[in-house]
Amino acid sequence: MDNQVIQTLKQRVNIVDVVRRYVALRPASGRHMGLCPFHQEKTASFSVNEAEGFYYCFGCQAGGDVLDFYMRINGLEFKDALQQLAEEAGIELKEFRPDPEYDERQKLKKLCLDMHAQAQEYYRRNLDQVTGDAARSYLRKRGTSPEMVAAFGLGASPDDWHGLMNHLVARGFTPEQGVLAGLFSKNEKGKIYDRFRGRLIFPIQNISGQVIAFGGRIITEGEPKYLNSSDTPIYKKGEHLYGLYQARQAMTRSKRAILTEGYMDVLSLAQFGYGDSCGVLGTALTQDQIKRLAGFCSRIDLIFDGDGAGRKAALRSAEMILHQGVACRVLHMPEGEDVDSLLHKQGREGLEVFFEKAADGLDYCLETIQKSFAPREIVAWATGFLGQLSDNALRAYYLPRLADGLNLSEADLRRQGASFAAQAGRQEVRKIAQQPVRSRKPMGMDDISDKKFIAFGILYPDYIPHLAKKGLHNFLSTQWAKAFWQKMFLQNFEQIFQSLNDEEKAFWQTTLDDPHMFFGEDLAEHWESMCAWIDKQHREMARKDLMQRLDTAAKAGDAVEVKNVQMAISALIAPSREEE
Ligand code: UTP
Ligand code: MN
Repeated sequence: MDNQVIQTLKQRVNIVDVVRRYVALRPASGRHMGLCPFHQEKTASFSVNEAEGFYYCFGCQAGGDVLDFYMRINGLEFKDALQQLAEEAGIELKEFRPDPEYDERQKLKKLCLDMHAQAQEYYRRNLDQVTGDAARSYLRKRGTSPEMVAAFGLGASPDDWHGLMNHLVARGFTPEQGVLAGLFSKNEKGKIYDRFRGRLIFPIQNISGQVIAFGGRIITEGEPKYLNSSDTPIYKKGEHLYGLYQARQAMTRSKRAILTEGYMDVLSLAQFGYGDSCGVLGTALTQDQIKRLAGFCSRIDLIFDGDGAGRKAALRSAEMILHQGVACRVLHMPEGEDVDSLLHKQGREGLEVFFEKAADGLDYCLETIQKSFAPREIVAWATGFLGQLSDNALRAYYLPRLADGLNLSEADLRRQGASFAAQAGRQEVRKIAQQPVRSRKPMGMDDISDKKFIAFGILYPDYIPHLAKKGLHNFLSTQWAKAFWQKMFLQNFEQIFQSLNDEEKAFWQTTLDDPHMFFGEDLAEHWESMCAWIDKQHREMARKDLMQRLDTAAKAGDAVEVKNVQMAISALIAPSREEE
């Protein structure tokens, strides 16, 4: 079913239109070229083929179709990317997947989006009218430029209990619908009224530019200082970032994201030329937000207020970012100052001083830990850090750095780290496999490379998708390994383990009992040699295929085909010679 959706999607969504949102493209001999958003480069080697619907980077070999691009750049899982793109293209997934609730949810989302679009327009227009006088002079007082007001679509809600409501009801929406969309509140008596009154309005947009929520700052007096939309069918706290829509192109260019805490901070940063800035929106930084940013940049520069709360948030945020394999730096503003006030007082030069002395994220964590943790806690923190990393390559990268920075023995930490990965698996095995495994020696195992790959998959599950992408299944030679490999793709560990037969369980356990783990350069080397082996098999398979075609063509006396195939064969052989 997904296949059908994907085909329809590719027909309806123009890859150039999607890529253009993130990359400046110029036409060049039948395709479009630009700077690759997936690696740092100065000359354009990123090409988009509109007719064929794919992109390819000659610099970093990233390539794929529109869905692949959307997934990568937004840091989304396949399912979510499919869902979002399909939604944009107006493809109803229910055409393919009958689900009555899905239909209802889509309708509700559409309703909420429509109401937000209308509300945004209403607030925006209000800012230019008499009811927006206070908000306008407030913005002037804060030094916000008209360009920023326009770029961020700022608005004003009048000091009126039913301003927006009258506006929306006149356009055919009901008060109850407004409550669902989070635009109106309802008191105990059932009275419905505008949620945002007498506030400067900051629209919150998703990555496609649709308004999905609002933040409102009080202009005169009152509590709270900022009021934000609550969760609705189209907005969930912690999933979005303020200003990401405006910043996305600058971020793909600079490969950096500046992350700050406040709405006004984001506006001021943009106004002073830091276009790659966004804000966390009044909650602690979440994994979802980091994943989102990771699609655009390779480093996040965190700006925090100088107070104690800021320091604590900085440590936690930096840790979380590093866990995802994204680099970061930490900037602390001086006491009583935030980036907005600093920029307005001292301009870019004032802030550049802080960028220059920004701490590297890992150094920052290590220093803070050493300063404020007891020795036992330090070891626990380090193993915890390693254990939470999203893959083994990262673990190998951080291990020596943690050991060095925390004055721990690398061997100790390595041992703990190694047992971390293996142990997690082993404990699960013990839990699920209560019954003793009958034969310790797996049977039917005659191919060494098969065994090597399956063991690698057991020890490094995060590499399984990469191996699959390289087409490993084509080159497993035993039935045993093929069946085993299939099972590795089940949902979770428990499912996998339950699907294994005794022989397979035995192999699993032997692998974990005597793990041949690799770290750092060893792991990289091992991985490369496995990739090289698979690539060689690919070439071998292609060669066999071509030889067969050559044979057929020769027999049929098709001279043109013979010539073509011969050329293809020599092209295939050439690169492998170079390697040797
Ligand atoms: P701050 O209190 O640091 O305010 O809150 P600020 O951003 O510097 O605002 P100005 O400069 O006084 O206008 C930082 C962020 O925390 C969230 C908002 O996103 C705010 O920008 N916040 C703050 C709320 O959600 N609610 C509040 O009541 C206060
Ligand atoms: Mn401020």
